[in-house]
Amino acid sequence: SPDSAFANEPDTDFSIAANRRWIQGQLQAWRERPMFTVPVIAAGETVTTPAEGVGIDPSDPERPIYEWVQADVATVDAAVEASADAGKLWQSITLAERKAVFFQVAAALSAARGQLVAFMTYDGGKTVVEADTEVSEAVDYARWYALNTDQLVRLESDGASFQPYGTVVVASPWNFPLAIAAGGVLSSLAAGSAVILKPAPETVATGWLLAEACWAGGVPRDVLQFVPCADDDAGRRLITHPGVDAVILTGAWATARMFLEWRPDLRLHAETSGKNAVVITAAADLDAAVADLVHSAFGHAGQKCSAASLGIIEASVYDDPRFLRQLSDAVRTLVPGPGWDPRTTMGPLIRPPEGALDAALHGLDPGESWLVEPAQVGNSSCQWSPGVKLGVQPGSSFHLTECFGPVLGLMRAADLDQAIAWQNQTEYGLTAGLHSLDPLEIAKWRDSVEAGNLYVNRYITGAIVRRQPFGGWKRSSFGPGAKAGGPNYVSTLGTWQATTARS
Ligand code: ALA
Repeated sequence: SPDSAFANEPDTDFSIAANRRWIQGQLQAWRERPMFTVPVIAAGETVTTPAEGVGIDPSDPERPIYEWVQADVATVDAAVEASADAGKLWQSITLAERKAVFFQVAAALSAARGQLVAFMTYDGGKTVVEADTEVSEAVDYARWYALNTDQLVRLESDGASFQPYGTVVVASPWNFPLAIAAGGVLSSLAAGSAVILKPAPETVATGWLLAEACWAGGVPRDVLQFVPCADDDAGRRLITHPGVDAVILTGAWATARMFLEWRPDLRLHAETSGKNAVVITAAADLDAAVADLVHSAFGHAGQKCSAASLGIIEASVYDDPRFLRQLSDAVRTLVPGPGWDPRTTMGPLIRPPEGALDAALHGLDPGESWLVEPAQVGNSSCQWSPGVKLGVQPGSSFHLTECFGPVLGLMRAADLDQAIAWQNQTEYGLTAGLHSLDPLEIAKWRDSVEAGNLYVNRYITGAIVRRQPFGGWKRSSFGPGAKAGGPNYVSTLGTWQATTARS
């Protein structure tokens, strides 16, 4: 079965000195690398001018690290045209051959691990450990989605036939510039579609490294094209072009809505925003609860759609000074700093705070106070220390608005029922957590919480392919609701036809 053929790719063990030396060497090599240009690779051409986009290191925003070419409308049109024929070619290849390519892509990603880790720390501000985990996830997607094609074969043998979408645009996010891009690209390729990858403008070069690994593994260059665009007419053309059959987006809910306004009939698979909470009851193991809450809230400086933004704490725990002390001590031990410094445990923001995040970092609403006040660190407007606010009120802006950064708000709930009601009150439903050792509480919570990924007595981020198929409810997702890294994801990336013939 596919499951028995699959094992998750292990992360690097940085407790081994040789691995630490290895990554230091990789980091140093990237640090010394001169400016380079990321091209557009579309319709058989490598376009290297004009390079109007600039890639910056969010740990050092004054320092440009590369330039990138922004596709124009004509290039987008050429890419979509090339994709139609490329898709047919790709579908004419047997599934066994396609699968072999995927295993080669996994090997190429694995071989490039050091480069990928080092570069993501510069391009996306990830810490070394976070970037390393992301490489494992990308490798997992290559192998897992290759094995997902077995399910297509099984379902087809039941009398239905599968038609891949054809041309799929993957619009990937800056917060998981490798893994989530890989998930979209590789699942669509596994289904048999041709793909146009449009990386987030903030992390274009990481998208390029992914495309390079796919091409190195044997994906033809027209079957996967690399088309970075600014959020301009070209970006809009890529979404609205009638030759594009589907879009896989990971980004803000508002971006998904915008795409659908541009093109109401768009087939959109989107993983969007979250406002995720961890409930901690009086029946929790507090040591574990505090550690998991801090990990969930401040991993990648809170810039994960899965991150915990709220801790909803049962009153007797909230009122226990030992709990608050333990939490504030744990938060103060985080080490904000540049992604590429291995001592860092919380990297920078991708850009200076704005909107809801700026408000959350700078201000308090009625009833709120700081347990740990966040502050800008050093001269970089992107580098912040973590913040924890007390007294977040039900229905307040912080309770209901996604802010995507290193601020955790605590709410004081009378009991579990009230905590669940507050957890469900947001419009989103991506991840949710509970810390309680009481089986009745766990059962009640599990039956009533409205989110796609539930975590009991564990942190709520870092879903692992196959083990935690990932995807949200409510305003956290658009499309058929299949879960990334789950058993049937590839089979949702196309249409099914059933034929009955009377003989
Ligand atoms: N899949 C990512 C996580 O679980 C977003 O944190």
